Amino acid sequence: MEKMWSGRFKQNAASLLDDFNASIMFDRKLYQEDINGSIAHAGMLEKQGILTQDELKLIVDGLNQVRSEIEDGSFEWKISDEDLHMGIEKRLTSIIGDTGGKLHTARSRNDQVALDFRTYVLRKNKEISTLIVSLLEVIIDVAGKHTDTLLPGMTHLQHAQPINFGFHMLAYASMFKRDIERFESSFERNNISPIGCAALAGTPHNIDREFTANALGFNSVSVNCLDTVSDRDFALEILFNISTMMMHISRLSEEVILWSSYEFGFVELSDEYSTGSSIMPQKKNPDVPELLRGKTGRVNGNLIALLTVMKGLPLAYNKDTQEDKEGVFDSVETAEISLEILARALESMSVKKENMMKASKKGHLSATDLADYLVDKCGIPFRQAHFITGHAVARCEELGIDITDMSYAELHKIDERIGEDVMDLLDLRNSMNARMSQGGTATEKTEEQLKYFKNYVEGLK
Ligand code: ARG
Repeated sequence: MEKMWSGRFKQNAASLLDDFNASIMFDRKLYQEDINGSIAHAGMLEKQGILTQDELKLIVDGLNQVRSEIEDGSFEWKISDEDLHMGIEKRLTSIIGDTGGKLHTARSRNDQVALDFRTYVLRKNKEISTLIVSLLEVIIDVAGKHTDTLLPGMTHLQHAQPINFGFHMLAYASMFKRDIERFESSFERNNISPIGCAALAGTPHNIDREFTANALGFNSVSVNCLDTVSDRDFALEILFNISTMMMHISRLSEEVILWSSYEFGFVELSDEYSTGSSIMPQKKNPDVPELLRGKTGRVNGNLIALLTVMKGLPLAYNKDTQEDKEGVFDSVETAEISLEILARALESMSVKKENMMKASKKGHLSATDLADYLVDKCGIPFRQAHFITGHAVARCEELGIDITDMSYAELHKIDERIGEDVMDLLDLRNSMNARMSQGGTATEKTEEQLKYFKNYVEGLK
C-alpha cells in the first residue's frame, strides 16, 4: 500500500510494520478534535490568502462529510493509513480531489496530534470535574443527614475519639474539592494553542496562529514551537490528577468495604450495587468498592508509563510519544465510570446508626476528655493528666467496661481531684460536641463545614 510519505522510498512498508506503527485503531477517538482543528486551520489559511474561498468551502464541506461518514459508521478505518490524521486527509482527498492536499500546508502531524490530544484532554478536564461535582453533591447529602450520628474516629484503625459520620464524610468532600481544583487549574495552565508550530520549527508560510487559536477557543498561543510539539505535560497532569482522585476514591472504598463487614456493620450497600457469590448463597459482596480500589492500580500504572516514555526523549517529536494516548484514554474512562458508580453506590447505601453508636461505646473514646478535664479544672500539666487517665483506662479494662460507664466513685479513687462534673464530659455526644475548635467535629462545626461545601458547589453552577 502506497503511503502519503512514500515519495523518497523505493520499497513498500512491510505489513508487519503497518500493524506496529499504526495508531489509527485508538487515535480515531480524536476524530472530532482532528476535524475541528483542520477546519480552523483551513479558515486561517484562507484568511491569509493561502487558500481561496472556493478551496476553503470545498475543504470544509468535505471534512464535514468525513465527519458524517465516521458517525454513521460508513468510514473505513484502515491500518495502512497509519493514523487518523492521514486516514481523514486521504478520505477528504478522495472526496474533493487535489484540493484536499492543500489542507496540510503550514502544518505537520506533529502539531496536529499535539492539538488533537491537548483539546481532548482539556475537554476531559472539564467533564471529569463536572462528574466530581456530582459525587461531591452526593457526599454532602449523606453528610447532611448525619451531623449528629456518632461514630468512632480512628487513628491506626484503632478507636480514638468520638466524631460524627457527617464530619467523616466531609473529610472526603475536602479531598474531592481539591481534585476539582486540580482539574480546573490544569485546564487553565494548558489552554494554549499548539497549532501552527508545524513539524518543530514553525513555518515560512505567512500564518496567523492567534486567529486559529481564537477559532478553537484557546486562551493563548504557545511560545516555543520546539517545546510545543514534544510537550505532553498536559497529558501527565490529567494522569496525575486522575491518580490522585482515584486514590481518594480508593480510600473511601476501603472504608466502605470495612464498614460493610460483619465486624463493623456501619453501612450496607444496596442490592443494586452489590454482588453475590457463585457458591455461597448467603454472601453479599462489596465488589463495587473493591473494583474501585483495584482500578486505582491501573491508573497509577498509566501515569508511570507515560512518565517513563517521556523521560529520555530528545527534542522534539519522537514516535515514542504515540504511546501517550491509550493510557490517557484508559485512565479517563476509568475515572468517568468510577465517579458515576461511586456516586450511585453511596447514594443508595444505608447507614446503620445504631451499630456506629454501639462501636463508639468501645475503646474509651472520651478518655482524652478526662485528661483535658484534669488540665482545665485541676491545673495539672497535660503529661501528668495523660498518665492519670491511663490509670483510669487500665482500671476500666480490669472491670471490663468502657470509660463512659465508669462510676464516679471509681474515678474518684483514681485521683481525688476528679470532681463529679467530669461525668458529663465523658458522655460521648458531649465529648464530640466539645470539639468546637475551627474545623472540629462538634455538630455545630460540622454544620459550618457542610455549609462551606454547599456554597462551594453552588458557586460552581
Ligand atoms: N500518530 C502519531 C502520534 O500519535 C502522529 C504524529 C506522527 N508524526 C510523525 N512525524 N510521525 O504521535
